[in-house]
Amino acid sequence: MRSPLWRLACSLALLSAAARALPAAKPLLGYNTWNAFRTNIDEQLIRDIADRLVELGLAAAGYTYLNIDDGWSERRRDGTGQLVAHRRRFPSGMAALAEHVHSRGLRFGIYGDAGKRTCAGYPGSRGHEGTDARTWASWGVDLLKYDNCNYDAADWDPVPRYAAMRDALNATGRPVVYSLCNWGALRPWLWADKVRHSWRTTGDIHPTWGSVMEILDASTDLARFAGPGRGHNDADMLEAVGNGKLTLGEQRAHFALWALLKSPLLIGTDLRSIHPDSLAILKAREVIAINQDPLGVAGDLVWVHGSLRIYAAPLAGGGRAVVLLNTGDAGPTNITVTWQQLGLPAGTAAGVRDLFAERDVGEFEGAVSAAATQHDVAVVKLTPLASGNSSRAADDGWRPWHQLHAQLPPRQHRPSVRGWLLAGAAAAALRLAAVAISIARWRRRVAGSGWRRLGDAHSMAAGTVQLGPAVFVGPGRVWRLVG
Ligand SMILES: *[C@@H]1O[C@H](CO)[C@@H](O)[C@H](O)[C@H]1NC(C)=O
Ligand SMILES: *[C@@H]1O[C@H](CO)[C@@H](O)[C@H](O)[C@H]1NC(C)=O
Ligand SMILES: *[C@@H]1O[C@H](CO)[C@@H](O)[C@H](O)[C@H]1NC(C)=O
Repeated sequence: MRSPLWRLACSLALLSAAARALPAAKPLLGYNTWNAFRTNIDEQLIRDIADRLVELGLAAAGYTYLNIDDGWSERRRDGTGQLVAHRRRFPSGMAALAEHVHSRGLRFGIYGDAGKRTCAGYPGSRGHEGTDARTWASWGVDLLKYDNCNYDAADWDPVPRYAAMRDALNATGRPVVYSLCNWGALRPWLWADKVRHSWRTTGDIHPTWGSVMEILDASTDLARFAGPGRGHNDADMLEAVGNGKLTLGEQRAHFALWALLKSPLLIGTDLRSIHPDSLAILKAREVIAINQDPLGVAGDLVWVHGSLRIYAAPLAGGGRAVVLLNTGDAGPTNITVTWQQLGLPAGTAAGVRDLFAERDVGEFEGAVSAAATQHDVAVVKLTPLASGNSSRAADDGWRPWHQLHAQLPPRQHRPSVRGWLLAGAAAAALRLAAVAISIARWRRRVAGSGWRRLGDAHSMAAGTVQLGPAVFVGPGRVWRLVG
C-alpha cells in the first residue's frame, strides 16, 4: 500500500498540472430537490418546479438553476455501462426533461457521486467518469453536484476523485458548473478552487435554527479562501427557508447570512405550497444583490459580543454590506456597528439602506445602530457619500478577515508536525483513516468544525479568546494532509 505522503505528493501534482483558469462566476441561484423531496422525485415534479420557478417570479429574480439531486437513475447501468434515468419515474428520459427545463429559460442540474454508489445507493461515477460526463453532456446538463459517498477505502483521497470528474467534464466540451459536495472533509477550501466553482464546507443542513447556527459557526474565517478566481464556499441549501418550523426572523437570518457568505443560494422547499412570507424572503432583491455583488468578496464575522454578532462584506464601489444578528432569546436589541469595524475612516459620511425593507434609513457618520429581535437580523448597506470626491475606489481593499484577525488568530489550516508524523506512520494509519472516513460519512450530519465554540465567545470582544489549533474531528481533521 502506498504511503499517505506519496498520495499527498500525487494529489498536489495532479492539481497543479491540471490547474485551470476559473471563470469569475457569481454564486449560483437556483433550486435543488433534496431538502423537500429526498429521492421521491419524478419528471412531473421537475416540470412543476420549473413552472413554479417562472410563475412565482423566482426565475426573474435570478434563480435559474433547477438541480435534480440523488435518486434520478435506475439502480443499475444499462448493458453498455451508461447511467439511465429511472424508467418509471422519468419515462420521457433526461434529455427531454432538460429540454423542457431549458424551454422555461432555466438551466438543468444533475447529481452524481465520486464513489461506487451515491448516498442513496444509485450507481456512482468512480471509474466511469468519462462515460458519465459524456452522458450528462449529451442530455444538456448545465451543472453537476458531485457527492462523496461509498468510495473504496483505498481510494479515500477526494482530490484525485474530484479532479477526474473535472477533467471528464472538461473533455466533453460542454460548460458544466461543477459543484463539489464532500461535506468539508479534507478542507476543500484549500484545494477545491483548483477543481471548480464551489465546495461544500460542512455536513448537511437541517430545517432547524440550531443547524443554521452550526453551519454559520463552521463558516467563520473561511471567507478568505473564496472569491474571484477561486470559487465559493457552499454553506448548503436554503433548507430552513420554508421548511421546518423556523420563525420568519430565523428564515430571514438564514437567507441574509447565506447571501453575505456568497454561498450558492439554492431553494429547498416545495414551491407548490410555499408560504408567501417565505417567498418574499427568497425574492428580497437587494439581499440577493449582496450575494451577486460584482466585487465577489465573501462576508465574515467582524464582531461578537454575547449573543450579538456583526457580519460584513465589502461591496464594489467601496460600500459595505452588514448583517446585524441577534442569536439570543431576549427581545429587540440595538446592535451598533462602527465604521472602524468596517474599515471606514470615522469621519466618513455614509448613506444607510435597509435591504429587506428596501428603504433609505438616513446618513450616518462613525456608527449606526439597528434593532434586531431574537433570532433575527437587520441587514443594511452602507454607501460612503462622495462629498466632492467622485474617484472613490471600486475596491478599497478592506476585507472582513482583517477585522476578525485583529481579534482572533487565523483559523489553523497547516498540517501540524504531529499530523505529518501520523500521516507518514504506516499503512496501518492509512487503514485507520479509511475507517475514520467511513465513520465520518456515517455521522456526517454532525461533522462540523471546531469553530462551533465561537458561538459563545463572549470574550472575543475582550480579546481573550483561546482558540488554538481548531479541534477538528473527521477525516480532514485526523490527517491534515492537504494544506
Ligand atoms: C477545459 O479546460 C481548458 C483549459 O483550462 C479551458 O480553456 C476550457 O474552457 C475548458 N472547457 C470547458 C468546456 O470547460
Ligand atoms: C435603539 O436605539 C434607538 C436610537 O438610539 C432608540 O430610539 C430605541 O429606543 C432603541 N431601541 C432599543 C430596543 O433599545
Ligand atoms: C478621493 O478618493 C480617493 C480614492 O479613495 C483617495 O485616494 C483620495 O485621497 C480622495 N481625495 C480626497 C480629496 O478625499
